[in-house]
Amino acid sequence: MMRAVAFEPRFERWRELARGLLGEGVQPHEVDWRPEGESPQLSLPARAPGPSRARGVGGLKARGASVAAAPRVPRAFLDLAQSVSLHRDAGRWALLYRTLWRLVHGEPHLVAVGLDDDVLRLRRMAQAVRRDRHKMKAFVRFRRAENDLGETWYIAWHRPDHRIFEAVAPFFVERFNDQRWMILTPDGSTCWDLKSLRFGPGVPREAAPDRDEMESLWKTYYASIFNPARVKVKAMKAEMPVRHWGTLPEAALIPQLLLEARGRVESMVKKPRRPPAMDAIPEGATLPVLSAALATCRACGLCENGTRPVAGLGPVDARTVLIGEQPGDVEERLGRPFAGPAGEVLDRALAAAGLDRSELYVTNAVKHFKYEERGGRRIHKTPNLTEVSACRPWLDRELSLIRPQIAVGLGATAARMLFGGEVRLRRDRGSPRRTRFAEWTLITYHPAALLRIPDPSARRTAEEAFFADLRLVAERARAVRDLPAAC
Ligand code: URA
Ligand code: SF4
Repeated sequence: MMRAVAFEPRFERWRELARGLLGEGVQPHEVDWRPEGESPQLSLPARAPGPSRARGVGGLKARGASVAAAPRVPRAFLDLAQSVSLHRDAGRWALLYRTLWRLVHGEPHLVAVGLDDDVLRLRRMAQAVRRDRHKMKAFVRFRRAENDLGETWYIAWHRPDHRIFEAVAPFFVERFNDQRWMILTPDGSTCWDLKSLRFGPGVPREAAPDRDEMESLWKTYYASIFNPARVKVKAMKAEMPVRHWGTLPEAALIPQLLLEARGRVESMVKKPRRPPAMDAIPEGATLPVLSAALATCRACGLCENGTRPVAGLGPVDARTVLIGEQPGDVEERLGRPFAGPAGEVLDRALAAAGLDRSELYVTNAVKHFKYEERGGRRIHKTPNLTEVSACRPWLDRELSLIRPQIAVGLGATAARMLFGGEVRLRRDRGSPRRTRFAEWTLITYHPAALLRIPDPSARRTAEEAFFADLRLVAERARAVRDLPAAC
C-alpha cells in the first residue's frame, strides 16, 4: 500500500518521519514523500532488490532488535543526509529513506564503502551543497545602506542553487558579528541586527533588486523591517518599481521577519559541536575504506570550506611514510598529496636521494585544504592547533595500518605531531628519534617553505639540508630493506 507523507521539508522532520516509517517496516517503494512547497518528487532510479530486501524487517526482528526504538545508523550517514537535505532535488527524501532502509537491513557499511550507486548519488548531492555553501560565503556582496534611524546596514541579494541560506547564516554571523546585515534569497531572508538572527520569507527571483535599485529599495522597504510600525505602504508603492511591487508579497516580508523568528535561531548562532573524526572512521577500515570515509568527516570547520579532502597515497606495506602539512590548491583539485609545486621540489629531492616515490606512503597531517581567497586565488593558510588535533585520528589510523619503520615529518606542523610541541625545526631536523609512530622518525623542512625563502643563499643552505635529510632517509630505507625479514 502506498503511503503519502506530506511534510515540511527539513532534515529534522524527515528524520522523525523516517524513523517512524522504519519502525513500522514501511518499505521505501511504499512511501510517496511529499515535501510541502517543493515541486513534485522526481522518480528514483530503480534498484534491483538486494539481499536485504528479501530479509526485510523480519530479519531484524529475528535478531531481536527493535528498529522503532533506536535504529542504529552511522553518524556518517546522518551527516551526509543533513547535507543532502539542503539539495534542491525533490527526489532526495526518497533516496535518503531508501539508503537508510538498506543501512538497517543488512548493509551497515553501505555509506563507508561509498561505491554504491545510491550512496554515490547522495555524495554528489552533498558535494554540490558544499560547493554552493562555499560559493555563498565567497560571493555574497553587501551594499552599504543607512536607514532613517541613522543605522548602517549591509544588504545583499544572492541566489543559491540549493536551500542553504539558513545553514550558511552562522558563518555570516561569525564573520560579520559587529555589523548589521541582511541577505535576501528567493528561498528566504536572513537578518542579523547585532543581537539576534532572524529568518523570514524569501524575495521572489523576479523581485530581486538590481544593484542600483538596492539603495532606494532599502530606504523605503527593507529598512522598515526592524520596526513594522514604520512600514509606509504609500511611500513604498511610490518607490517600488511596479514590476517588483506586483511580485512581492505585499508587506509580508517585513512584519514576518519580526514575527517569525524561530526558536532554533539561538542554537544556530552557538557554534555547533562537531563530531570527532573517530565517528567517521569505520571500524576495521582498510586504507581504501579509510580514504573513502574521509569525505564524511565533520570534525573541524575545514569540512565546510567547499573543498574535498585529500587522502594519503601509497602502498599499505610501505616501509616509509612521509607526512606533510595539508593539501594545497593543486592537490585539492587533483585529489593527490604533493602534486603541486611543493611536490616537484619533493620529487627532485627524492630522486637525488635514490628514493622511489611509488614505494613510499605520502600523506598530510590535515586532510582538508585551508585557504584564504585573494584576487580569485586560493592562498594557503596554516591550519591551527584545533584543526591539526581534530584531524589527528586519520593520520593515527593510517600509521597503525601501515606500521612504517621510517616516518618523516615535512615542516613544522608534521614535526610537532611527531616530536611534540617543544620541537624546533632548525635545531631538531636531521636527527632521527624513536617515536611511537616509527622506530626511526625524522623531521625536516617543508619543501614549500624552501620555495618561500627570499634570500638566495639562505634558501640554498636550507635546500642542501633538506636534500641531505632525504639522503639519510634513503640510507635508512636501504638498511631496513636489507634486514632479515624477521626483524
Ligand atoms: N604541502 C603539503 O604539506 N602537502 C601537500 O600535499 C602539498 C603541499
Ligand atoms: Fe576532518 Fe581533517 Fe577535514 Fe577537519 S581537516 S574536517 S578533521 S578531515
